Amino acid sequence: MADITLTIDNQPVTVPAGTTILKAAEQLGRQVPTICYHDHCTANGLCRICVVEVDGVRPLLPACLSRVSEGMKVTTSSARAERSRRTILEMLDSAVDLSEAPEIQKLLDENHADRARFPAAERREHTVLDDNPMYIRDYDKCILCWRCVQVCADDAQYTHAINFTGRGFDTSIGTFFDKSMPDTTCVFCGQCVGVCPTGALKPKREALLEQGVSLDEILQATRGGQKRRRKPS
Ligand code: SF4
Ligand code: FES
Repeated sequence: MADITLTIDNQPVTVPAGTTILKAAEQLGRQVPTICYHDHCTANGLCRICVVEVDGVRPLLPACLSRVSEGMKVTTSSARAERSRRTILEMLDSAVDLSEAPEIQKLLDENHADRARFPAAERREHTVLDDNPMYIRDYDKCILCWRCVQVCADDAQYTHAINFTGRGFDTSIGTFFDKSMPDTTCVFCGQCVGVCPTGALKPKREALLEQGVSLDEILQATRGGQKRRRKPS
């Protein structure tokens, strides 16, 4: 594949055609902030935190999705891109419980987001779903990044147990016909929990520990108090 030369923040860089702006910037040691993007998931450009300015292009472009082109001039932290990021973070913080999302908290601080900018905003509120022995789902904390859906589908597990449900503000992650997790195709691989950036999906044991349940009680509940011993051969 042919190489492409472009400039990012006035620094020239040459990368293979098809490279995203995000990866080209990384090659120069520049980190464009991301939220929904994950190195092992298909990029869908949902959160728009990674927007950058490209000379001659009117809209801001999502760096995680947009491919480089010859002679492109990219600015990763123009005033416009930074204002856009800050507003996205402020809107997220106004509607979603980000208390267990340390990476997003860091972005809020780094981008000088005003956490009180939208005091009248309606917050997403859901009942915590505790319907299986492996993990809980607390969608008050969900930013709809779609990573869990993707690893459950074609990016990893091919089980397709979860997807978007609802529309607009009421959009959330759910199961087909709102079934409880054991009644879906879920195989409890835990990949969704592993990629969730906000604590919306949490291992059951971690949730129980946070609720003050002791390790002994958790072991008894999950193993019936029996120690597992290997049989002598
Ligand atoms: S549950 Fe977690 S991984 Fe799934 S969409 Fe919400 S924030 Fe993303
Ligand atoms: S990280 Fe690029 S759109 Fe979310």
